[in-house]
Amino acid sequence: MPDAPLFTVEGLVSGYGGGRVLHGVDLALAPGEILGLLGRNGAGKTTLLKTIMGLLTPREGRVTFDGADITGQAPFAVARRGIAYVPQGREIFADFTVEQNLRLGNLAAADCEVAYATFPFLRERAGAKGGSLSGGEQQQLAIGRALMGAPRLLLLDEPSEGIQPSIVMEIADILRRVARDRGLGVVLVEQNVDMVTAICGRCAFIENGAIAEDHPMETVVADPAILDRYLAF
Ligand SMILES: Nc1ncnc2c1ncn2[C@@H]1O[C@H](COP(=O)(O)OP(=O)(O)O)[C@@H](O)[C@H]1O
Ligand SMILES: [Mg+2]
Repeated sequence: MPDAPLFTVEGLVSGYGGGRVLHGVDLALAPGEILGLLGRNGAGKTTLLKTIMGLLTPREGRVTFDGADITGQAPFAVARRGIAYVPQGREIFADFTVEQNLRLGNLAAADCEVAYATFPFLRERAGAKGGSLSGGEQQQLAIGRALMGAPRLLLLDEPSEGIQPSIVMEIADILRRVARDRGLGVVLVEQNVDMVTAICGRCAFIENGAIAEDHPMETVVADPAILDRYLAF
């Protein structure tokens, strides 16, 4: 029998004010699995992650984590259960130091070793202002901050955005290693196909606020028409 899922989303309906964006999203993730979530701008990727994190309240549907129903719980409660979120655009505090940014990921942590062990350059730059880091460095800082709470599920919203390709693949390698070493589940929202194919075992495609297709990565790589359907303009 396959492992019980770490995380499920069933029939999730959500949006802003009176408007619906998600029309019934279904997803499941096994422990340690890296799932790619692809879709065009406006498809509802960020809205889905915000609803999972409790930043938006779902109108219908269910989110479970580790067998518990966490639907509609507040962001701090979701985080405390072991789900970490790296928002689109990173949201690094430019005037805070690297170390201060990391500490915001877990105010109770004794030190920042979790982040420094994963991204050693952060230790050397601990006293530097967040705003003095390059885009790629800020992305690694944002991921390091998310790891501070020792999560078991990491939600990443377009980490490759605005970062040069060689750095993107470096970050992909680190994510793959962290997921393997920590048994961390990852939902990787991306429009960068190279990053997704490099590290995801499975890929789901979101269109108009619902999952349209969900395939093992081998199937996606073997049939370029699938990617064309959801990413070509
Ligand atoms: N704060 C908001 N208020 C109202 N509508 C929003 C807001 N944020 C996003 N939307 C709308 O929700 C839809 C999905 O957006 P989003 O989830 O950000 O898509 P994606 O992350 O896939 O690009 C879009 O039509 C967008 O205009
Ligand atoms: Mg988005």
